[in-house]
Amino acid sequence: MKTCLHGFRRVKDVTQFNGRTKICYGENAINSLEKLKGRHAFIVTDSFMVKVGFADRIISGLERANISHTLFDKVEPDPSLETVRQGTVQLLSDGADLIVALGGGSAIDAAKAMMYFAYKADPAKGKAQLVVIPTTSGTGSEVTAVTVVTDTAAQLKIPLIDEMIVPDIAVLDARFTRSVPPSVTAATGMDVLTHALEAFVSTKANAFTDLHALHAIKYVFRYLLRCYRNGDDMEARQNMLLASCMAGMAFNNSGLGVAHSIAHTLGGLFHVPHGKANAVMLPYVIRFNSFDVRDRYRTIARKLELPCDTVEQGNESLIEAVRWLNSQMGIPNRIRDLGIKEDDFQTGIETMAGHAMDDACTTTNPRRPSKRDIRQLLRQAY
Ligand SMILES: NC(=O)c1ccc[n+]([C@@H]2O[C@H](COP(=O)([O-])OP(=O)(O)OC[C@H]3O[C@@H](n4cnc5c(N)ncnc54)[C@H](O)[C@@H]3O)[C@@H](O)[C@H]2O)c1
Ligand SMILES: [Fe+2]
Repeated sequence: MKTCLHGFRRVKDVTQFNGRTKICYGENAINSLEKLKGRHAFIVTDSFMVKVGFADRIISGLERANISHTLFDKVEPDPSLETVRQGTVQLLSDGADLIVALGGGSAIDAAKAMMYFAYKADPAKGKAQLVVIPTTSGTGSEVTAVTVVTDTAAQLKIPLIDEMIVPDIAVLDARFTRSVPPSVTAATGMDVLTHALEAFVSTKANAFTDLHALHAIKYVFRYLLRCYRNGDDMEARQNMLLASCMAGMAFNNSGLGVAHSIAHTLGGLFHVPHGKANAVMLPYVIRFNSFDVRDRYRTIARKLELPCDTVEQGNESLIEAVRWLNSQMGIPNRIRDLGIKEDDFQTGIETMAGHAMDDACTTTNPRRPSKRDIRQLLRQAY
């Protein structure tokens, strides 16, 4: 995976936590749109959001704030460079001073990339305000400086990281997540867990990222299965949305780890949904890291009230708990059960190991892997 790192300037011996996004949440969080200041909004979403009337709900809020709009509803899952190009061209000619992203990580990431490229193309117009309304509880993209765009020809997911694309406002209204089908609830929820777990053991973890990560982990174990089993359980939906956002705040500051590096390449090469790829890899990566993280996994196990008399028991308990959560939601233990044929997997293994080594997430993994380690992890997980 190509890596494009901009914007983060780290000063030696200074630890930072940046939580710049204003977060509006609660039962009627969407009403906060009426307070927006702006002239013209460019709404970035997908056709499903239009079909089920969610986009109309946003448009009504904007109209009440006297803000006109243009609708771009062509975002596909894992947005392509071509979609981002089309949106950027339209955004540049539209003259919007507000960008509203409505959807899962794909719509949000597309909007962030469009904003970035429009600004780079014409900085004189200034940066539009970015308002984000997530409809999945997964990526945390509503508070991160990350956008992931897919180069379909090269089968590569390209992350762009820049503080400029951190959203200004995130609106967390769980009613937009009620329609998420169980399989997407499961995959996106396991993405939240992977963000939080990888942030907690990252080489850049700090007191503030720990706080957000631990809270998110606790909430995932408490509320994800409830969302999966009953999508209308709004208490669980709201708390998963909070968990997703908190995990996003954690990893935005700490970085992630090797589960993500491998999930990115599995997504790019074999189109495995991002959260599902993370869910399958997570137990293998916990075991791979366990020698190097001292008692960090045991701390999590203790928080979850799992058996953890020794560090080793804590590590094993956590692995078992993740496997159990996966099994309850029909997520397999092995890559082979994700529908990837053995021949294709073996052919792709060298490419995947290369992409995972180059991935920015690998740099903050607590155990620095070699290419051979990644190959081995992939083989074990297959
Ligand atoms: N920017 C970041 O920080 C970051 C972090 C992790 C992942 N990502 C990226 O985000 C993307 C994945 O995002 P995602 O997991 O949210 O999925 P997604 O946005 O790709 O959506 C998955 C599917 O669910 C549907 N969907 C979304 N909301 C729905 C709702 N409320 N009801 C019914 N269906 C709904 C979408 O239409 C789509 O078909 C990937 O491209 C991944 O690489 C970004
Ligand atoms: Fe993720």
